[in-house]
Amino acid sequence: MNKKLIEGFSKKTKEEKLDWVAQCFLDNDPEVRKLLLTYWHEDVALQKLHDEFSENTLSNFYMPFAIAPNFLINDEPYVLPMVIEESSVVAAACKSAKFWLERGGFKTHVQSIRKPGQVHFLMHTTISRLEKFFKQVLEERLFKGTEEITKSMRARGGGILEITLKDKSVELSDYFQIEAIFDTCDAMGANFINSCLEQFTQILKWEVAASDHFDEEEKNSLQVIMCILSNYTPECIAHAEMSCQIKVLEDDFGMTAKEFASKFHRATDIAVCEPYRSVTHNKGIMNGVAAVAIATGNDFRAIEACAHAYACKSGRYTSLTNFELKDDLFRFWIDLPIAVGTVGGLTTLHPLVRLSLRMLGNPSAKKLMEIIAVSGLAQNFAALSSLITNGIQQGHMKMHLLNILNKLGATDAEKNYFVNFFKDKTVSHHLVLKEWKKLKS
Ligand code: MEV
Repeated sequence: MNKKLIEGFSKKTKEEKLDWVAQCFLDNDPEVRKLLLTYWHEDVALQKLHDEFSENTLSNFYMPFAIAPNFLINDEPYVLPMVIEESSVVAAACKSAKFWLERGGFKTHVQSIRKPGQVHFLMHTTISRLEKFFKQVLEERLFKGTEEITKSMRARGGGILEITLKDKSVELSDYFQIEAIFDTCDAMGANFINSCLEQFTQILKWEVAASDHFDEEEKNSLQVIMCILSNYTPECIAHAEMSCQIKVLEDDFGMTAKEFASKFHRATDIAVCEPYRSVTHNKGIMNGVAAVAIATGNDFRAIEACAHAYACKSGRYTSLTNFELKDDLFRFWIDLPIAVGTVGGLTTLHPLVRLSLRMLGNPSAKKLMEIIAVSGLAQNFAALSSLITNGIQQGHMKMHLLNILNKLGATDAEKNYFVNFFKDKTVSHHLVLKEWKKLKS
């Protein structure tokens, strides 16, 4: 076998895996081992915990763990934990938080936490025959047959809220769904939902086989294709908003509050009607959303996928935020579908996730949804404010300066020199190099 291909890799020890990759793909470079080992935690138990979060772990991959203070949410102060590699995101969050702190802060609420999941099946029958069977037999059996699984969730106030049969045979012939809506309380609930759906699958097969609603041909045609929760949760919505009279918007924007509000309005209109802009606009929102989601141990891929699908709910990709300027009231808000958990998963296992949640006052899932929506909205406000005034490069490059200097191997004294040098200038790669050469000559 080609030595770059391997069997039974996952059974090998960490050392063996490391040696293999170094040998086969990294020219046996001794620095590789050294580098990977540098990132191992000296506390063996803690390293083992991290290794076991995933499979085939070689080392840890550091990301900055930062905080953004001064968020006032429903009149309560918060400090937001943020894990992100993009230098200007935390600065933008801080700037936005401070700006709105002086203007009433953010107001939030959760509309609902309903999460769907589906059993996707094919059956050569009609919707009317299936509906009769569903109403007379199946619906009740699905609830009853999952009582063991749902017991503790029901004790916490959640469980299966409703189960429906859906006709999808127009989209795909013989295709139907059993869709259930779940309330998973403070858990993200993926395992709970998927366990219920797998049990539904068994019950569906048993009940169809035992039913006299169908003839033998129909029974034999039943094929369960799959069952899985949906990461599209358009009813699991957190609302966050900020508002103030435009006269109190006055800041150092370099224009009057009225001009700022009007330009901001147009920028949001463009994000609504022009998908090329909407995507970047929403990407900026996700900068804030994903950073808090990662810090709190939540599945940011699910959150991203859902947010972008929701941005298309009208049939056209559009902005996730909304703006209104009425009677001199500047109002900016987001309704973000977001499924998160504050119990289960990584939340109790990862020490820094535990710390993040503690920093946020050990919030319920609903509260965390609100906080994450605020983080996205604040980020969008900061981005738009920069874009319509000085542009983003000024702030962005200031933050990026340290990355450029680190690449050049600058000392702390040299970094201080450059920070001072750029106090009244816009940072550019070109100018840094020019000044660096001068300094070094
Ligand atoms: C960069 O990560 C995010 C922005 O491009 C967002 C935006 O344009 O609204 C600044």
